[in-house]
Amino acid sequence: MATVTYDHASRIYPGTERPAVDQLNLHVEDGEFLVLVGPSGCGKSTSLRMLAGLEDVNAGRILIGDRDVTDVQPKDRDIAMVFQNYALYPHMSVADNMGFALKIAGKPKSEIRSRVEEAAKILDLTEYLDRKPKALSGGQRQRVAMGRAIVRNPQVFLMDEPLSNLDAKLRVQTRTQIASLTRRLEVTTVYVTHDQVEALTMGDRIAVLKDGVLQQVDTPRALYDSPKNVFVAGFIGSPAMNIGTFSVTNGVAKIGQAQIPLTRDAVAGLTAEDNGKVTLGFRPEALDIVPESDPSAIEIEVNIVEELGSDAYVYGTLKGDAAGADLASAGAGDHEVIVRINPRTAPAKGERIHVAIRPGQEHVFSPTTGLRLSSQ
Ligand SMILES: Nc1ncnc2c1ncn2[C@@H]1O[C@H](COP(=O)(O)OP(=O)(O)O)[C@@H](O)[C@H]1O
Ligand SMILES: [Mg+2]
Repeated sequence: MATVTYDHASRIYPGTERPAVDQLNLHVEDGEFLVLVGPSGCGKSTSLRMLAGLEDVNAGRILIGDRDVTDVQPKDRDIAMVFQNYALYPHMSVADNMGFALKIAGKPKSEIRSRVEEAAKILDLTEYLDRKPKALSGGQRQRVAMGRAIVRNPQVFLMDEPLSNLDAKLRVQTRTQIASLTRRLEVTTVYVTHDQVEALTMGDRIAVLKDGVLQQVDTPRALYDSPKNVFVAGFIGSPAMNIGTFSVTNGVAKIGQAQIPLTRDAVAGLTAEDNGKVTLGFRPEALDIVPESDPSAIEIEVNIVEELGSDAYVYGTLKGDAAGADLASAGAGDHEVIVRINPRTAPAKGERIHVAIRPGQEHVFSPTTGLRLSSQ
């Protein structure tokens, strides 16, 4: 058991100018399940490999517990890593694959056998111990890769997109198993994924990275409810938050005819550079259908209705006074807005609906800095 600390840790690959990981500060608690999430190329794998000792740290330090491991060999860090491609040895049985690291470490055969059998029991692999990896399903191979990490009884598990080779259904099952397993074993885990749904469902806390720079570290709930900037707001949540830039007069933002009063905090945060504009975010579920006569009604033409059984989502275009507003959603096209609606009363394509943002459920950001201005 151990904490993990990144202390201004940077990685600049030879021949590149911009750091792949830029002064990362992150503290992972003992036994915590921390997810590193962000778009492809944002530096997730690099951060994990720095912790594993597979990548140089060019500035700053990395600690496991109180121990500075920045210059410690990977094998002496007491970590176990699960890779995306599992990296199983094809010619070895499941048991030999799982026990390989212990064999290299010179552990006695009987101890290896008992630790492998114990891990196999936890992972439901007992009956497959004599098989070769090619005779296993994708999900079983994934469990062997997990087993190989577990038998080493490390201080920290490092996992780099370990579910990306599984089909959608198995991925959902396995993510719950991994999250509950690492908690049962009480091993500190740093888990990398590009999938924000995976991050939200698995993490005790989530660290969001963009372009090598840490954006926010928080619980799933706090990230969802109070994203610190426009990037996190658009990245976390599915379907994505609607985000647009609108004009403000006397502390009231206008989306077409709809008037959105801003809190005093938010107004005070706007500067001359923001030029009378404000960036507002509102989640698809923060919109209610209202009558056309409602003073806060925003008119939308329905382009498509996505039915998900329990929910339905309208993907629509702003009409009326708001037409052409600078609105975008990471989940929809430009000028498109996503509205969660009751599937039993879903409108048809081409219909016009009117929606209002539920009071207080808007997220307010500075258009210039992208930083959150509203305090709730
Ligand atoms: N060995 C390398 N040499 C040079 N640049 C690299 C190397 N590995 C990764 N990068 C670059 O560093 C950035 C971060 O990569 P990576 O950590 O793999 O991102 P992620 O895992 O989030 O997709 C990317 O821009 C990538 O192209
Ligand atoms: Mg990666």
